[in-house]
Amino acid sequence: MQSLKTPTILITGGTGLVGKALTKLLLRQGYAVTILTRRLPRHKQIKGISYALWDVKKQQIDKTAIAEADHIVHLAGAGVVEQKWTPAYQKEIVESRTESSRLLVTSLESIPNTIRSVISMSAIGWYGPDHDPVKPFEESEPASTDFLGETCRLWEAGIDPASVLGKRLVKLRTGIVLANEGGALAEFKKPLRFGVAGILGTGRQIVSWIHIEDLCRMILYSIENENVQGVFNAVAPNPVSNRELTVSLARVSRGKFFVPVRVPSFVLKLMLGQRSIEVLKSATVSARKIQEAGFAFGYQTIDEALQNLHAVRDPL
Ligand SMILES: NC(=O)c1ccc[n+]([C@@H]2O[C@H](COP(=O)([O-])OP(=O)(O)OC[C@H]3O[C@@H](n4cnc5c(N)ncnc54)[C@H](OP(=O)(O)O)[C@@H]3O)[C@@H](O)[C@H]2O)c1
Repeated sequence: MQSLKTPTILITGGTGLVGKALTKLLLRQGYAVTILTRRLPRHKQIKGISYALWDVKKQQIDKTAIAEADHIVHLAGAGVVEQKWTPAYQKEIVESRTESSRLLVTSLESIPNTIRSVISMSAIGWYGPDHDPVKPFEESEPASTDFLGETCRLWEAGIDPASVLGKRLVKLRTGIVLANEGGALAEFKKPLRFGVAGILGTGRQIVSWIHIEDLCRMILYSIENENVQGVFNAVAPNPVSNRELTVSLARVSRGKFFVPVRVPSFVLKLMLGQRSIEVLKSATVSARKIQEAGFAFGYQTIDEALQNLHAVRDPL
């Protein structure tokens, strides 16, 4: 006899940008959601959502959350662009991902559970900058040896033992997530308040982006489709240059009333230090593999994505 229990998705880092949007989508699709967090929220309970605590540093976790989940979506990790990359913060960026993955793996090993799949975030930082001549990065490409490449390699390796434990493992190398509630788009929009479209460096560097709704639908697709397994790039099929993205955003939000202004690379280096590499580098990433696995993007072009985000404050 089939179980009548509502399938439960355990989301690590579910309080963040992606987690909040994903939670809404999952609830609408009839799933129950448990958010694994470092701090319980103060606000009142929402039907369908429960919270469970973990402490990654102490390697402690609410055992019931593992015992009762059907799938895990692993999003947790310290923000990559928010803070200066001091050696201590770089350690936090890496360990918040590797140690949280380790805690999940040891929990899957030691706590009796019926979890069927683990969908784990990774990032296109895996690839580093485009090679010359440019050929879109496919999933078979080895990890870059720079800081983010190494971070992603350790992050993915940290969760790999889940598949040895018999769980279907999907790793999504995610591009720049476009959303109204935060992330890169909020930063790109700031100068537009003053009618300025800030083109970064030469503006020729390629940005591989994804609309948040497509990312959340891709996570849901990964949960629901047994044929989806292994590594997939989570980027839209049409990456654009920084100039194209900036001008498209300016047109959508200001019509003709904006002035494109170049922010020279040296200014960005002064403002952001090492992190400036991330906004100045080109990363052209292929969406072919996930499309061949049957996933259909809702937003294929940057104009479609930005027009939607402008029109609908909360697309999910
Ligand atoms: N947004 C993007 O453009 C983008 C692109 C590529 C990849 N990604 C990756 O996708 C994942 C989700 O992205 P997001 O934008 O939703 O991130 P986010 O808004 O920064 O949320 C991440 C969550 O991780 C938890 N977290 C933060 N620091 C932690 C630490 N030191 N130890 C354990 N947990 C910690 C927090 O949850 P609690 O406070 O509740 O514990 C936080 O809400 C991240 O790993 C991110 O690197 C994002």
